[in-house]
Amino acid sequence: MQIGLLQQLETALAQSQVPYCCYTDVVADPPEAIVEAALAQALQAKVDGIIGFGGGSSMDTAKLVALLACSGEPLQQIYGVDQAQGQRLPLILIPTTAGTGSEVTAVAIVTTGATTKAGVVASQLLPDVAVLDAELTLGLPAHVTAATGIDAMVHAIEAYTSAHRKNPYSDMLAREALCLLAANIRTATHEGHQLQARQAMLFGACLAGQAFANAPVAAVHALAYPLGSHYHIVHGLSNSLVLPHVLRFNSRVAAPLYAELAELIVPQSKVGNDPERASEALIHYLETLIADLRLPATLREMNIEESDLPNLARDAMLQQRLLVNNPREVLEQDALAIYQAAY
Ligand SMILES: NC(=O)c1ccc[n+]([C@@H]2O[C@H](COP(=O)([O-])OP(=O)(O)OC[C@H]3O[C@@H](n4cnc5c(N)ncnc54)[C@H](O)[C@@H]3O)[C@@H](O)[C@H]2O)c1
Ligand SMILES: [Fe+2]
Repeated sequence: MQIGLLQQLETALAQSQVPYCCYTDVVADPPEAIVEAALAQALQAKVDGIIGFGGGSSMDTAKLVALLACSGEPLQQIYGVDQAQGQRLPLILIPTTAGTGSEVTAVAIVTTGATTKAGVVASQLLPDVAVLDAELTLGLPAHVTAATGIDAMVHAIEAYTSAHRKNPYSDMLAREALCLLAANIRTATHEGHQLQARQAMLFGACLAGQAFANAPVAAVHALAYPLGSHYHIVHGLSNSLVLPHVLRFNSRVAAPLYAELAELIVPQSKVGNDPERASEALIHYLETLIADLRLPATLREMNIEESDLPNLARDAMLQQRLLVNNPREVLEQDALAIYQAAY
């Protein structure tokens, strides 16, 4: 709204004589109150369709409003998997970040309390139409491009090693997504005006979204959520902070799969034939990438108290919806050790 991105859409709606109203108060990691306020506006205006325009926060809010405005269910009743019963209004999603892939997932994430987030997973949350227009992402600041791009890469990596529902289709999507994202994230971040790199990132994030819509994400996301909810660290950066450390923990079990991903994006000379070595090469590649993108790499830099790590580990355990998908079982003491490694 502030940088004028909505203008083209508003002009198009006006020219097509489609009456509309805008809800523009969505904040990053939207709390329940924002969803309720957007819903109230939609009901009052008696809208007959929803367009979600923005990053994952805006699209997730729009998805929920489209559902709740039609089905009348209370938001609190539909958290979890397949709890929503009703139908939704027609829904178009237009991402302006290349990250969450929310435009192609059946997921919406809401901040439910001071330190908690919850997800609604329901097939009704898939839109009728998703529009990918990379020009909308040209003005995305470097740090947002980097963080949201890492989020998309994590979607591809976690889908590829998901303990549940990993399949040849999700593998194909994850592999293609990771290749596109890895090849373009540096250019998109450091030379944000490059449209081709922006297009590759937007398409890569969309494919990664489809990958994890089929084979769900796991411990990187589970350990990222408490960072977001306790410290208001944005979603992509939360993921980035724990990514190498979760992968190193998983490597004992997942090394052969990480080795397959390494072959796609790490120079052959560093991969070799040994899966453990190749897995470490992938992790090292990601650590170097995070540094190149100038994202903070430690929890210490984020002013997190070391004494708070056990609280984070305890809260990560609440994300069983995600942890069950991890290739290696994560116990509370493991989560704590991962946070300590990330410190
Ligand atoms: N539904 C899903 O499948 C799914 C998956 C992963 C994450 N999420 C959720 O999505 C949210 C994160 O979404 P996100 O990473 O896209 O960030 P975001 O939507 O929170 O946006 C981040 C910031 O970038 C700004 N912004 C967005 N587009 C811009 C543009 N083109 N130019 C300039 N600024 C722009 C926003 O105003 C905001 O300040 C979290 O709530 C997370 O939990 C959802
Ligand atoms: Fe994510």
